[in-house]
Amino acid sequence: EKQGYEHFMLKEIHEQPTVARRFLSDRLKQEEVKMPELEEIWQEDFEKVMITACGTAYYSGQVGRHIIEELARLPVDVEIASELRYKQNFIDEDTLVIVVSQSGETADTLAALEVAQKKGAKILALTNTASSSIARQSDAVVDIMAGPEIAVASTKAYLAMLLGFYLLGLKLAELRGTLSQSELSDYRREILKLPDRIESTLHRTEPQCQKLAETIVDYDSIFFIGRNLDYSLALEGALKLKEISYIHAESYPAGELKHGTLALVEEGVPVFALMTRGKLARKTLSNVEEVKARGGRVIAVASSQLMEERAEDEFYELIKLPVSNELWAGVIAVIPLQLTAYYAAKELDCSIDKPRNLAKSVTVE
Ligand code: F6R
Repeated sequence: EKQGYEHFMLKEIHEQPTVARRFLSDRLKQEEVKMPELEEIWQEDFEKVMITACGTAYYSGQVGRHIIEELARLPVDVEIASELRYKQNFIDEDTLVIVVSQSGETADTLAALEVAQKKGAKILALTNTASSSIARQSDAVVDIMAGPEIAVASTKAYLAMLLGFYLLGLKLAELRGTLSQSELSDYRREILKLPDRIESTLHRTEPQCQKLAETIVDYDSIFFIGRNLDYSLALEGALKLKEISYIHAESYPAGELKHGTLALVEEGVPVFALMTRGKLARKTLSNVEEVKARGGRVIAVASSQLMEERAEDEFYELIKLPVSNELWAGVIAVIPLQLTAYYAAKELDCSIDKPRNLAKSVTVE
């Protein structure tokens, strides 16, 4: 079952190049994105998008927000399903609601879907389980085809959700005419390179992450910072680490550090700094300096082209990511975060595939 891997989580991390190849070969050709499910429910008068989900699926939605806003120029809200179901909402017939769920059975997500449906919104499910309750109740279903995920901590499904959002973002841009044909084809071409880059990143960063994990497990708290898309990735990095290693981990938008969290940074505290976006990386680097000035250990997870002028010894550790279009770098950047979480949990002898108190499918409120 585990095919020689010690845990399902590690096996599933390693399945990610295959997952990406399978999903993209089904949906993306050099000439077009195939998303008939979206086209069927498409309305010219969609004015906004609401994404709702729980946990890791919610964090994929945070990435999805940036992708859709930038490519399709539609305002996007992302709400945690257990919050959305009990709050004032402004969902209406002109809202496209995207519900994200690996299992398709999460009780709060299903309830949020029903709230949106009552308001007359069109519902598109992004799910790994096409036969699930959420899929059945949605107007359109995009199957992310990650295959069965056994480890409680989601890895390959999260990656497939991001790919789902990339293609949804491109299709929405096409339908709304917000990108030129040549821009669309450049973006498509770059996405098609991702499976190879995911694979090379896995192999190249695994030994580095394993060594790094051994040095960070002694700390009580670990922070993850980034801006924009990189903040969305920071959220997932912190969740992965805390849920399986039980080390307290928190993510912050890098610009918020000095509004509170910096008080917790002292000698030796590990801080992961995500930097995949050109202009914003420079801003995050100034936050990195603030961390270093207080003795924090900065682990930079950054696109190699942004680090060309940086010396490795400027950071406690520098994890370089292969060149990629910066909108699509998320699926690459998440790999070292997953690996570090896995090896930290292994170092601490935790129950990796079944972390304490957590279940794979949360079918109660
Ligand atoms: C964390 C994790 C959970 C799930 C959440 C939603 O690694 O897996 O946070 O993402 O419980 O589950 P689904 O996607 O099945 O709705």
